Amino acid sequence: MKTRYDYDVLVLGSGAAGMSIALHLPRNLKIAIVSKSDLSEGATYWAQGGMAAALHADDSIASHIADTIAAGGELCDPDVVRHVAKNASEVVNWLLDLGVPFDKRNPTPTSELHLTMEGGHSHRRIVHATDQTGRAISNVLGDKLRDSSNIDIFTNRVAVDLLIEEGISSGAYILNKDNGLVEVFQARCTVLATGGASKVYLYTSNPDGASGDGIAMAWRAGCRVANLEFNQFHPTCLFHAKAKSFLISEAIRGEGGILRLPNGNAFMHQFHPDKELAPRDVVARAIDHEMKRLGIEYVFLDISHRGEEFLRKHFPTIFKKCLEFGIDISREPIPVVPAAHYTCGGVMINKEGQTDIPNLYAIGEASFTGLHGANRMASNSLLECFVYANHSANNIASKIKDISKPTPAAAWDATRVTHSNEDVVISHNWEELRRFMWDYVGIVRSDKRLYRALHRVELLKTEISEYYGNYKIGENLIELRNLAVVAELMIRCAIKRKESRGLHFNLDHPNQVEQAKNTILCP
Ligand code: FAD
Ligand code: SIN
Repeated sequence: MKTRYDYDVLVLGSGAAGMSIALHLPRNLKIAIVSKSDLSEGATYWAQGGMAAALHADDSIASHIADTIAAGGELCDPDVVRHVAKNASEVVNWLLDLGVPFDKRNPTPTSELHLTMEGGHSHRRIVHATDQTGRAISNVLGDKLRDSSNIDIFTNRVAVDLLIEEGISSGAYILNKDNGLVEVFQARCTVLATGGASKVYLYTSNPDGASGDGIAMAWRAGCRVANLEFNQFHPTCLFHAKAKSFLISEAIRGEGGILRLPNGNAFMHQFHPDKELAPRDVVARAIDHEMKRLGIEYVFLDISHRGEEFLRKHFPTIFKKCLEFGIDISREPIPVVPAAHYTCGGVMINKEGQTDIPNLYAIGEASFTGLHGANRMASNSLLECFVYANHSANNIASKIKDISKPTPAAAWDATRVTHSNEDVVISHNWEELRRFMWDYVGIVRSDKRLYRALHRVELLKTEISEYYGNYKIGENLIELRNLAVVAELMIRCAIKRKESRGLHFNLDHPNQVEQAKNTILCP
């Protein structure tokens, strides 16, 4: 059975970041793209709202930059923000050329595209495909990948660890879920496009694979990470016993949705002049505050006043999904709660996507670029994926001729491990980790809670590492091992930040320090 593969470029992850870098790389390179299950299982597929681009006649790149920096709690890197905002229209055109069916109804004076509104944006700026933007993008990029003869697609595979040869990246060990074997993928350049780590929390809008694998692998390999204390909680996930992780898009608030308490009263005016369209950290904290104050399990998001025809046309997925749970959003408000949504920090990279390790790149949600600061503005994430994929591809293309083929790495050694009959340890630790992260490192933190979480994660890491050393690995164990690493990094970042800024709110340090600084951890 074949367990060794050689490529020019190995791309780990098939979301917006991974698929688009594979498509941007020159056709003469042999590329492998790897994903945990099928091509579209990442967060990208589930993106609803859309992608930010200053296309409206009244809008400008300067305004997109200013809004991003304000939403980011003045911690964004202005240079990076400018770089991303400037490239937005080019990204939109690239996607349109590939055939992504962005909504064109209701044309504005300068753009054929329909632009919707989301929190933090001072203009209608969100390009979208109804409320299924991610699915539309994923489907089109997936088709293009399948048509590209230089790209091999490997699904049902989980990268375990990176291969580093004398300090230089040379590929990865990858578990083939179909046969349980760990394969050796070697490549001149490797790209981490493995998405975020929101699965570290008990309640999340993210799909199951969001276990921060790329961040943990890069850290173990020797890369710096930054700003992992800033985990974004989306204010409005559907609250229903049977609804697993279903998001109610911010675009619903953009189109007039009002947050209400069980007695019907609106409350956001008490927290921010922009009310429902305040930046996400503010809205999530306000909901959390009201839920704790009143001892309630959820609040309501009411868009019923926009009427059935409008809602079915603009939000067909949300309309249908809610109806499946017996909620007719044109007649009644939607029960919602905040849930972990986006990892603002990640593997440190430069504008070309290069990490601290030569020939290792990181892009998309796994990376830290400096764009989001202390709080990502809605719909800036897909944009970041595409801009960095493009620029990283150019960098790889210009360098790869000077990178030699790696020498063959040792095969994975599974001779000293056995099958476990104690998988309950994995499920118990998963549950424990995600619960204490939710309780102690959630929307509102304190020093005591953070140190309590640190103590817990240290114990768990020891237990997991013992298990990892003795038993055959499977996807759950790989993810748990990575989640524990990322949880610890998040807690350590949170402990280092002695202030409250953006998504990080600590009761013991409620004010902002004068000089905003990134939290950087070195392995
Ligand atoms: P992902 O799309 O998450 O892809 C990660 C890929 O890595 C997957 O293919 C996965 O299988 C693979 N992978 C992970 N670990 C491994 C491993 N160990 N081995 C092999 N493969 C691995 N952002 C916006 O800008 N606009 C929106 O409207 C929007 N809506 C959202 C709605 C929802 C419900 C969610 C969850 C997120 C939303 N976001 C939105 C955020 C945005 O979708 C993500 O940040 C973005 O899609 C991340 O893309 P990515 O390519 O970095 O990662
Ligand atoms: C949403 O549609 O609310 C998600 C947008 C985002 O996360 O950027």
